[in-house]
Amino acid sequence: MTAATSTSPATLTTLATPAPPQPAMPGVLPASPPPSDWVLQVSGISKRFGGLQALSDVGMQIARGQVYGLIGPNGAGKTTFFNVITGLYTPDTGQFELAGQPYQPTEVHRVAQAGIARTFQNIRLFAEMTALENVMVGRHVRTGSGLLGAIFKTRHFMAEEAAIEQRAHELLEYVGIAPLAHDKARTLSYGDQRRLEIARALATDPQLIALDEPAAGMNATEKVQLRALIDKIRHDHRTVLLIEHDVKWVMGLCDRVTVLDYGKVIAQGTPAEVQRDPQVIEAYLGTGGH
Ligand SMILES: Nc1ncnc2c1ncn2[C@@H]1O[C@H](COP(=O)(O)OP(=O)(O)O)[C@@H](O)[C@H]1O
Ligand SMILES: [Mg+2]
Repeated sequence: MTAATSTSPATLTTLATPAPPQPAMPGVLPASPPPSDWVLQVSGISKRFGGLQALSDVGMQIARGQVYGLIGPNGAGKTTFFNVITGLYTPDTGQFELAGQPYQPTEVHRVAQAGIARTFQNIRLFAEMTALENVMVGRHVRTGSGLLGAIFKTRHFMAEEAAIEQRAHELLEYVGIAPLAHDKARTLSYGDQRRLEIARALATDPQLIALDEPAAGMNATEKVQLRALIDKIRHDHRTVLLIEHDVKWVMGLCDRVTVLDYGKVIAQGTPAEVQRDPQVIEAYLGTGGH
């Protein structure tokens, strides 16, 4: 198995074409407000599982173009937070705004359409589908021909399919696994599967891409490559929310960081600020050690 990466140089144009916003009525300019500098603003999020308070009054503000880190010891509530903002878990309380617009994180499909895409701590790919097909699945969120178009294979549908395939190829190129386009997802190396998940998430043209421990299980070389990819995504004006366990790795990459411990925010700020916060030091090095 190759660790595989004909990492092609950054193709800026690849991400420069987000789907245009649909006007509310034909012929009428969309009444959307100017895009907010805040991509995600959430506050007061709480989530309880039986006797366990997994999240308590969690909030954060993520500015456009940032790489934002969410760190904390195992069991701190990081994945639960992702699951809440992307609609997999219904929170007990919480306010949610995406690009200045309130949203209800109730349905995964609607969250994707609203502009959040994610990857999973435990990789979730269609194992028997090719890399290319996995990305095409992600892209279908953005298209409109619908079921009738698919059944009758209308000209519009066929053109849309071709465009989706083309875009999927571009995204595989972008994440550096273009030569593996026709390999089944399950045959890819671990690091390449993580890249494929990122390509699939990017296929929805997200405003915010949320990565749950993307570097977990990667070797040192793969981590360096992943870091370069995240830098490239930021450079292309996307916003990244990153869960990570490796504090050193995250600190060098993120613009801002939130630290969770036992479901509570214990520190928020620049990496330098949170690194010298006594509560953070205690959570990682102290008796907590959970
Ligand atoms: N679906 C669930 N049902 C019950 N408990 C859960 C569920 N999901 C997460 N938890 C619990 O919530 C806490 C936070 O978990 P998680 O968000 O996965 O932490 P992290 O990602 O920071 O390691 C843990 O104690 C975990 O066992
Ligand atoms: Mg987790």
